[in-house]
Amino acid sequence: MACTSLVKLQASSSSWIGQKSFNQRPGSSCRLPTRRVSVIRAGSYTDELVKTAKSIASPGRGILAIDESNATCGKRLASIGLDNTEPNRQAYRQLLLTTPGLGEYISGAILFEETLYQSTTDGKKFVDCLRDENIVPGIKVDKGLVPLPGSNNESWCQGLDGLASRSTEYYKQGARFAKWRTVVSIPCGPSALAVKEAAWGLARYAAISQDNGLVPIVEPEILLDGDHPIERTLEVAEQVWAEVFYYLAENNVTFEGILLKPSMVTPGAEHKEKASPDTIAKYTLTMLQRRVPPAVPGIMFLSGGQSEVEATLNLNAMNQTPNPWHVSFSYARALQNSVLKAWQGLPENVEAAQKALLVRAKANSLAQLGRYSAEGENEEAKKGMFVKGYTY
Ligand code: 13P
Repeated sequence: MACTSLVKLQASSSSWIGQKSFNQRPGSSCRLPTRRVSVIRAGSYTDELVKTAKSIASPGRGILAIDESNATCGKRLASIGLDNTEPNRQAYRQLLLTTPGLGEYISGAILFEETLYQSTTDGKKFVDCLRDENIVPGIKVDKGLVPLPGSNNESWCQGLDGLASRSTEYYKQGARFAKWRTVVSIPCGPSALAVKEAAWGLARYAAISQDNGLVPIVEPEILLDGDHPIERTLEVAEQVWAEVFYYLAENNVTFEGILLKPSMVTPGAEHKEKASPDTIAKYTLTMLQRRVPPAVPGIMFLSGGQSEVEATLNLNAMNQTPNPWHVSFSYARALQNSVLKAWQGLPENVEAAQKALLVRAKANSLAQLGRYSAEGENEEAKKGMFVKGYTY
């Protein structure tokens, strides 16, 4: 019998494992080295993390993602002719975060650092506006994408340096969950190096977030770019999520205290045929069932450039039969597009823009419950928003 020199013990971060030593195995001529199994201590935040994740993954609710970096927020503002200034970003975020009744459909809001520390023009902290609506404040903690040397023109996500101390500060400011978005490109391969780097970075970030009281949203976005069929997306998504879960386990991340933000499994944006919501639901749920343990409380999809109506229809199709996890949304573009169009940067349009947000939030809430119909949706909401090589 082969002599194993390495004893690997996986442990949940919510348990203590005592020290043990291993001697010679009975009946074996192979002498195993005496070794100590490391002690893994329960994180002080474990119970709170589980509670936070459950509250975000509550029936009929999902996440409003408004964590655009200043550069990306500038693009949103430019689409309605506004300059990318701090007061304009604040006015836009104020409109979104003070929408009356938003908490009926929205359970969490992901903010950019600037917004986490901002207040309304009347001086009320944005985090308090959210708490009053029973919405959990979240924070984007990654520092964006840069080229990955040695890869096939792919990228990696920065932000681990200083993450623990930043997370402590974000928690003090009221954040209770975090987001880290890295990307995988199918047309670029993806290379084994890029997938491993994406998965390892997400796992390290998740462990650090949990250690500081923040529920990590794990987001390896598989970009829509490419002309590949849906089968190829399924193959890549399975590979990526297998690796992500391998490293999450290796880093002793508590699965009950994370949320996922996957891309839906669709054909590439430039593929000759479009897939129906039923097909997308079938492929996406197949991938999730094969890769995601039921201990994970919530799957909060990104919209990735789909039109508002498409993203909602696809989510609705995924909720036609019960799932082991809460299957919901964490949309940015597919919740904001109609709002920007209604607002146009004018104070007199704020109410109409907030109504537009409630229309989209309610539609996705119904889709989370499997009860949405696209009847009566306007043409604007059906327009796709795909942009090649989109950054956040
Ligand atoms: P969308 O793909 O829905 O625009 O959002 C991406 C994202 O990561 C927002 O937090």
